[in-house]
Amino acid sequence: MQLHLSTWPEIEAYLATSKAILIPIGSTEQHGPNGLLGTDALCPEIIARRAGDEAGFLVGPTFNVGQAQHHMAFPGTITLKPSTMIASMLDWTESLTRHGFERIYWLNGHGGNIATINAAFSEIYHGVTFAGANFSNATNGPPLRLHLRNWWELAGVMDLCRELFPVGEGSHATPSEVSVTYFGYPEAVKSVAMSPRIAPTGPIRDAEDYRRRFPDGRIGSDPSQANVEAGGRIVAAAVNAVIAEFRQFGTA
Ligand code: NI
Repeated sequence: MQLHLSTWPEIEAYLATSKAILIPIGSTEQHGPNGLLGTDALCPEIIARRAGDEAGFLVGPTFNVGQAQHHMAFPGTITLKPSTMIASMLDWTESLTRHGFERIYWLNGHGGNIATINAAFSEIYHGVTFAGANFSNATNGPPLRLHLRNWWELAGVMDLCRELFPVGEGSHATPSEVSVTYFGYPEAVKSVAMSPRIAPTGPIRDAEDYRRRFPDGRIGSDPSQANVEAGGRIVAAAVNAVIAEFRQFGTA
């Protein structure tokens, strides 16, 4: 069940049975020569929508632009300042809690978002403690609970990725994440020769330094291995894990 494909009476009916919602959150940033700019938003979205349909829980719209400053030397990347992202997450949360949601599970697709998501959680909980207007029920009703899970850290997923791609998984534009997007959008599969086959590794600093160190955008990876079948296996494992974790979170 997806919020943006539902009507308000359907959401009102859902809230009578559950106060929990899952929000996919990611980034719009370069993902090397054969990875889609939307990869980090598409991965959690593909997993979340299948999980929500299978288990009957609500999936919100994807928060699909995040912390991508270091990718700005590549065309197409869009980034938010940390302060903008925190403010937006606060507004999304206040809107949802106004309607009665009490459990918000953020399924993240971008490592660069983690620090800012945690800062946003602190900002939101601060609002709860000091009873901001839209959190005014906080002292009487059940407490607001927020949860962050990176999709690649869901139970069993990392082991499967290592098994599928023992060489060249790397840390950015990985064959695993590109496979997930190819599974979701098989019409977008691209065949591109990688040179060198495995990309260099190194520290992430600002945008210009990043492009000098990693000229085609990849870090340590060989995403030419990406394929639809591997993506399907990763998604299946992630869907099972997120259903189990969301069920527990929604009732805890
Ligand atoms: Ni990524």
